[in-house]
Order: sequence, then C-alpha cells, then structure tokens
Amino acid sequence: ATSIDQAIAAFREGEPVLVHDAADREGETDMVYPAGAVDSDAVARMRNDAGGLICVALSDGVAEAFDLPFSQDLIDHPTAADHELGYDERSSFSLTVNHRDTYTGITDEDRALTITELAEAAADPGRFDFAENFRSPGHVHLLRAAPELLDDRKGHTELGLALAEAADLPPAVVVCEMLDDETGRALSPADARAYATGHDLVYVEGRDLIERLG
Ligand code: 5RP
Ligand code: CA
Ligand code: ZN
Ligand code: ZN
Repeated sequence: ATSIDQAIAAFREGEPVLVHDAADREGETDMVYPAGAVDSDAVARMRNDAGGLICVALSDGVAEAFDLPFSQDLIDHPTAADHELGYDERSSFSLTVNHRDTYTGITDEDRALTITELAEAAADPGRFDFAENFRSPGHVHLLRAAPELLDDRKGHTELGLALAEAADLPPAVVVCEMLDDETGRALSPADARAYATGHDLVYVEGRDLIERLG
C-alpha cells in the first residue's frame, strides 16, 4: 500500500497522521486527528509531543451552516485590515470555542469534549444548534476550509479535511503543529518522520496527498 492508503486506513481507525505541507509553504508538519477520535490522551499528546496550536478544521459547508466567519472579517481593528501572510493568501482562522459543558475549557478533558462535540456537529449540521452547544471565545481554534478544498488552497486545513473525506469521516479534523523542543522552530521533516517511525504512525507529504486526493 502507498503511504496515502496507509494514512487513510490509519485515519479511519482514529489514529493521528503526520502531514507536512510543503517546504515552500509553512514547512510545518501537523499532527492530524479525525475530531471524533480525540480523547484527553490525544489532547495531551498534541500539547506534549506536537506543541503547536490545537485547532479544529471544518469544511466550508459546515462553517456556512453554523455561520462561522473568518476571524479576519470579524475583527474591527487595524491589525486585521491587512493580513499579510508570507505563505498563503489568507489564514483559515475562524472563531475560538468551548463546549458549554466545559468549565475552564483548557484542560485535556475539556478540550477533548469540545473537539468530539464539534465532530458530532459536523456530522449532521442541519440538526445541530451551534450556539446552544458552544460558547465563544474559547480554547479551541476553529479553522474554516476553502470551498473546493485542495483545488482552492493547500494548507493543513484542506489537507486534513481531504483525508477525512477519503476516509468517509465527518468534515472535522484536529491539526496541531509539531515544534522542535530544542530549537523552538518547526520540527524538521526528518525528525517528524523519525517520530512517526518511533510511534508507529504514518507520515505523508502534502504533495502526495494533493496528487492522490486533489
Ligand atoms: C494554525 C496554523 C496551522 O498552520 C494549521 O495547520 C492551519 O493552517 P494552514 O491551513 O494555513 O496550514 O497556523 O495553528
Ligand atoms: Ca514537548
Ligand atoms: Zn499549517
Ligand atoms: Zn502554522
């Protein structure tokens, strides 16, 4: 099987997949989980082993159903007037949320609840009242994907959701950048591959996902 087949199979089993976008983009490897598979141990693994920002990417359709804006369009402050990203045309950041049954929202259990409930919401957006279930601001960053996924944008937001689609899972995935504890920079692809090998996980290159699923 190709690494992409292995990634789809692992994802279907609820295992994280490590996804490197591209050397000429962010040059980051995100630890990516199907949102429905995240428990408190998975949140602990993301903050301890990955170390980046824990975000839930939702499809454009789900974001539209729940009226979730891009945060850039929402922030009425000069910092948001010109976004100027070095690696893409726009950031996919939307609101931050907590599930209403959380207390502070930041604990592993609280974030796991917020994340799994986001998967529930994404599985059946028509029957779900978002504001009744979530409050904003919160401790989980939402990301809104481009409408045509990889045809429109090639970020981890879209790479992760393309993987969910291929695995027949709801359009809600968690992404968290892997950082290097020594340097504080993005974990190198070689070190991300070594982590994957050492923990029996699948590592994939964005270009291979794009070639197969784009
Ligand atoms: C949020 C980010 C991450 O890079 C995440 O992977 C989503 O962004 P993108 O879709 O642009 O890769 O910055 O922590
Ligand atoms: Ca660490
Ligand atoms: Zn990214
Ligand atoms: Zn990033």
